[in-house]
Amino acid sequence: MNESIHIGDAPNRVDGLVKVTGQARYAAEYATANLLYGWVVSSEIAKGRIVEMHDLGARRLPGVVEVISHANRPHLPWLDHSYTDEVSVPGSPFRAFYDDKIAFSGQPIALVVATSLEAARDGAALVHASYEIEPHNTDMQEALAEKYEPKRKRSTYKAPKSRGDARKAFDEAPLKLHADYHLSTHFHNPMEMHATTVVWEGNGKITVHDKTQGSQNVQGYLCSVFGFSKSDVRVLNPYVGGAFGSGLRPQYQVYLATLAAKMLERSVRVVLTRQQMFSHVHRPEAVQSVSLATDEAGQLRSIINEATTVTSRFEDYMEVVCNWGLMNYACANASAKYSLAKVDTYTPGDMRAPGAATGMTLFEMAIDEMAEKAGVDPLEFRRLNYSNVDAMDDKPFTSKALREAFDQGAERFGWERRSAAPRSMRDGSDLVGWGMATGMWDALFMKTTASARFTAEGQLEIASAGSDIGTGTYTVMAQVASQTVGVPLSRITAWLGDSALPTAPVEGGSWMAASMGAAVQLACQKVCKLLYQSAGKLEANPLGKAKFEEVGFRNGDMFVKADPAKHISLNDVMAAAQKDVLESEATAKPGVGDLVSMMKMARNTHSAIFAEVKVDAELGVVRVSRIVCAVAAGRIINPKTARSQILGGVVMGIGMALHEEALTDHRLGRVMNHSFAEYHIPVNADIDSIEVIFVDERDPEVTPLGVKGLGEIGIVSTAAAVANAIHHATGKRARSLPVTIDQLL
Ligand code: MOS
Repeated sequence: MNESIHIGDAPNRVDGLVKVTGQARYAAEYATANLLYGWVVSSEIAKGRIVEMHDLGARRLPGVVEVISHANRPHLPWLDHSYTDEVSVPGSPFRAFYDDKIAFSGQPIALVVATSLEAARDGAALVHASYEIEPHNTDMQEALAEKYEPKRKRSTYKAPKSRGDARKAFDEAPLKLHADYHLSTHFHNPMEMHATTVVWEGNGKITVHDKTQGSQNVQGYLCSVFGFSKSDVRVLNPYVGGAFGSGLRPQYQVYLATLAAKMLERSVRVVLTRQQMFSHVHRPEAVQSVSLATDEAGQLRSIINEATTVTSRFEDYMEVVCNWGLMNYACANASAKYSLAKVDTYTPGDMRAPGAATGMTLFEMAIDEMAEKAGVDPLEFRRLNYSNVDAMDDKPFTSKALREAFDQGAERFGWERRSAAPRSMRDGSDLVGWGMATGMWDALFMKTTASARFTAEGQLEIASAGSDIGTGTYTVMAQVASQTVGVPLSRITAWLGDSALPTAPVEGGSWMAASMGAAVQLACQKVCKLLYQSAGKLEANPLGKAKFEEVGFRNGDMFVKADPAKHISLNDVMAAAQKDVLESEATAKPGVGDLVSMMKMARNTHSAIFAEVKVDAELGVVRVSRIVCAVAAGRIINPKTARSQILGGVVMGIGMALHEEALTDHRLGRVMNHSFAEYHIPVNADIDSIEVIFVDERDPEVTPLGVKGLGEIGIVSTAAAVANAIHHATGKRARSLPVTIDQLL
């Protein structure tokens, strides 16, 4: 393994060994002396106020050190502004223990802090509150009566834009569809639950091991809420057990652990229970009303796309739900409208492809219905209505290899062997259905800084505060460094997930590979330049008069590209130049020209998903027997980790299609299936064949490395492909996800 690795190679994860051997530590796994354990007590009511906290029983329990609630909390800031973070949404951010008010069932109302986890848990069982109950509503159907469009939008929200006269075109068209589609609430349940260990370092300093997607975002938040200065708070998240958006905003476990640590001047750990994850961040329930019309040949004449999702009473969480269909299809007349409806729950939040996973998926179910009405094959329908430009903003794409994804996906799947009529394909007693859909997501690029450091021993270290939430960031960053400096992977160490490292945004939006990759490449190029300059100072420089641009780096060597016999090893350069270390730092960000191009060009990833289902003809039980997902996402840094991202997204999409559904008892305002026994997510036994194809898509325009990002595209519209396949198998249209057996009988 002395050879440098290139972008496009498929090495194993560089963090694989520490992960499978348990050496990689997560937020709840940091041991520290005299650690206290906090256990969260959750509200039993959905709305009202606490009249009295009864905590004497807990306080008498051996091992219990303190019971913290609104009744005895230390001073906290008053203004909402103090509780905002890099990615918060308009409204009043939730602040636990601030006052006696209850805004949602499961709201944390007390933290029992004890010398052991068991004592904290026992103590929590002894804490009770008496309440004054107010009427609540958690039912979206009721909330719809008061749907609204908020005045203030979050910065990432892009308003849908209408064109032509969609209503008139709809009325005049010969073929039309109007239907409502529904997506149930999904709760974030990464393997690692939300957890924080705050280490009290003395003299007012804390080290925070947090389950988060942004160490610096949490650092800023803790400083703002608790009055620390930045130098007194270090937040670490080198390993994250999945997050999918749940860790974008600082969550209340880090707030509670820090509050307790500061109040008691002790180290404190808080871990949420799996049950508590079900009154936490979730993908909001959605209703999308779609009207589509075509001419006799199936050419789209009108798109009317209106959606509503729920948010909490105290914040307006908005995502981009309505735009996707309008962007993706050529159609002269289109309109869209997006509203919110308030319910008494915790604020929803981003969850893998927020907005697209909802809006594009439901829209693609409608497209399948429209294709059927027009008597056109679903794939043919999408080719017929293909748009080469972002049809909503009338902007060209930096690249859109969706046609190639259609072709390659269809060929691998064998789509041409599909018989059009529903219920016409069988396998023994099973009905077989084939369906497909188009996926779409953003290709984003965010300002990110990274450093690179080359030592006399020939080791290359790269560092950035940005985190690897399980996607393979350590590995792909090491690959970018390996290619740039020409140092083998075995000699490269990446340091990530530490607020003390160079500035990076939260890890989200599938932007990290493109953004941090560009920063790492720049920092490494600077190190190359330093190595070249050091060689230039040698008396006998084997590179002669070669300019920097004429020099290449590979396998630990620097060489003249036109004459590779002229070369020198990097170690020899370091030795001869008597350097211990060469280091640099660089920031990648959109330049002025890029910003102009960003306004003029649309930047997106695309996918074509093909699904096969087998449905028991008598019982209605559905199996997804085969998925082919063809992805056009620019340059692929590592096909192995990239494939894993798509596999994970597709599995989550199968969960959307058939499994995930939070069920609320609206009388209590509480999610009732708050465990893995009753809230179903796909397990190995639910998953059969998933094939991933990466379509060749060269796109130097989209980001410096030509990379588009892959964390989210795999989930988008996978559930639509499955639902469309279920219709093809059974002849029944289920318009609500997940598709349950009762919808098919
Ligand atoms: Mo993603 S939902 O931006 O972690």
